[in-house]
Amino acid sequence: MERSLFKLSREGYDDSYRELFLLGNGHLGYEGSLPDEDGGFHLVGVYDQCGDKWRESLNLFDPLRLRVRFDGREIAFSKARLSWNLDYRRAVLRLRAEWKEGVYFEERFLSSSVDTLLFAKSRFRAKKTGRLSLRFEIEKDPHDINGPHYVSLAASSSPLSLEGTSNEGRKAKVSLKIAGLQGLKPSVSEGTPLADWEGEVKRGEIVFFERAAEALVDDERPMERFISYEDGYWDHVSERKRRFGFFFPKADGESPFLEGLYDSAYRMSVLSDYSRIASIPARGVSGQVYKGAAFWDSEMFMLPYFLLLEPDEARSLLLYRIKTLPGALKKAERFGYQGAFYAWESQEDGVERCSLYNVTDRKTGKGIRTYFADKAIHISADIVKAFSSYYRSTGDSSLFGQGAVDVIAEVFRFYRSYASEKEDGLFHFLDVVGPDEYHERVDDNAFTNYQIAFAFEDVLSDLKAAGLSIDGAFSARGISEREIRDFLSRIYLPKPDERGIIEQFSGFYEREDILPKELAKRLEDPDDYWGKYAAPTRVNKQADVVALLAIYPERFPFEVLKANYEFYLPYTEHGSSLSHVMFGILAALIGKEEEAYGHYLSSARIDLVGGGKRFAGGIKIAGSHPASLSGSFLILFNGFLGARMEGERIAFFPRLPKEIASIRVNYYAKGKRHRASFERK
Ligand code: BGC
Repeated sequence: MERSLFKLSREGYDDSYRELFLLGNGHLGYEGSLPDEDGGFHLVGVYDQCGDKWRESLNLFDPLRLRVRFDGREIAFSKARLSWNLDYRRAVLRLRAEWKEGVYFEERFLSSSVDTLLFAKSRFRAKKTGRLSLRFEIEKDPHDINGPHYVSLAASSSPLSLEGTSNEGRKAKVSLKIAGLQGLKPSVSEGTPLADWEGEVKRGEIVFFERAAEALVDDERPMERFISYEDGYWDHVSERKRRFGFFFPKADGESPFLEGLYDSAYRMSVLSDYSRIASIPARGVSGQVYKGAAFWDSEMFMLPYFLLLEPDEARSLLLYRIKTLPGALKKAERFGYQGAFYAWESQEDGVERCSLYNVTDRKTGKGIRTYFADKAIHISADIVKAFSSYYRSTGDSSLFGQGAVDVIAEVFRFYRSYASEKEDGLFHFLDVVGPDEYHERVDDNAFTNYQIAFAFEDVLSDLKAAGLSIDGAFSARGISEREIRDFLSRIYLPKPDERGIIEQFSGFYEREDILPKELAKRLEDPDDYWGKYAAPTRVNKQADVVALLAIYPERFPFEVLKANYEFYLPYTEHGSSLSHVMFGILAALIGKEEEAYGHYLSSARIDLVGGGKRFAGGIKIAGSHPASLSGSFLILFNGFLGARMEGERIAFFPRLPKEIASIRVNYYAKGKRHRASFERK
């Protein structure tokens, strides 16, 4: 295996490098920006609302701004010959910039051992004798999507720092320490904390300096002493090794496969921070897209990944749902239901942040009424399913006693209040949005109905297996086991028809039989919101019935898995990056390894190639794609390696596509670490 696979190298610069060379430590994200241009420093789990705009996560003041002048003239980084190099395993970025005046080299990382720290080490080697000037700045106006978020700023030159107070009264303070330069002149100019240094440099001379920045929220306490780059670096690297060495499989095969494998492992490794109870936003640590909120992506895509590779993070994702139960109770009340209706877009408090007009018309800029907030009810069952998966994978039942039972009981109450009992004596879920969001307000979406039934069946048997009495667990809410079982047994579950196909929702077959390619011609603008056009047709945004089958393959006959994969694939636009994950898992399970491999590459390489849509109507949706990246590992693990839980262990039934020669994966099962190697025969 080539060592270079653990590195990502690029020359030059374009805007996509901000995402490509994104650093993260679960709590903070730092974009691959040029030192003298607008930065992107992101904070996870702290939100703010400006006026009546969308509430979104806070961005921080970028402390690594640097302007370089030589003999009085600015030398811009955009004019330099640039080389970038990201060390995937260490999560350290190196940037080299060369001008005729000199060569600048910078190495930066976000600490994974102390999650509030950002470090940079730099040197400038003069190619000419002259006067070098350096200006260090803490950027005072971070770029926001729905800002501005800071109503007041307090800048200081000693120590160099900038504190902002948000509209909601939260405080974010970024401070900067610079070491290695004599005669540095700190000051505050027009509210920007800065420090200037100037000196004569001879040809060949090297100027070194280091920066350590700290980002604190509210009453977080600063570090007591300056941590040198070297110390910070080794702490960071050893913590990375301890926690994420595990993430990187050993593999051989064609390069797109290997590139996707390592790139996705890297991007997943910058997301977790289980010292804080927060979920992982749909766009990870890449900023404010999707309001910095968590979706079902966390439970259905990321959680199964973390169960295999970092169970502590999986646990933290679930503790977050326990913590945000009050928000889900409020949401149910707001929409006239009982129990817990979890937010489609969830921030730190679990309050629904998805707007009722969550997409804007590209042409008019007006909001389009969407029904994700009020009708995507499957989110609550997805969470119940996640509690079951956690217990089954780790064997740890402690979450049940720490609030999970309350979540499960309240979610049950929600579905019971949402369901409509019809003449057939069955419970139907009417007027919902399934995973395929282009079809809103449909009745009996197969994914939703089955997910509710299966997730509860599973979790009830888990509670039993964990030695908990169901009546005991639910009696405080006046719910008996008999009542739950009766409800579950009467949920309407659309059965496969004679072809083996499960109708996505009632009336799906009556929709116009047209494929995405033809539908695309009806769009006035390629970035138009497809939902507007797809609703009257069979065109799907993303895997829906296929997601159900990929999550519960053991519950359906092989012929059903195959028939639905083949039926729904042509109708699917893959307008969400989540789609290829579910298609990929199912394709591998039905023996279509080559097709599965295509879905694998689309998922694993999405951030590497800048894939995925950048706009939904007028709303920017670009950024990192953790659900897709974690999902690519699931295509590999559940699909190509055919992993199945059998009792206390995972059994494998591998079928590798020809592009994968060998692979060795690490994983956790029932609290123990394992390793398994496979070779294609
Ligand atoms: C998808 C959702 C997903 C969200 C965040 C949307 O485009 O349709 O399923 O949860 O993006 O990734």
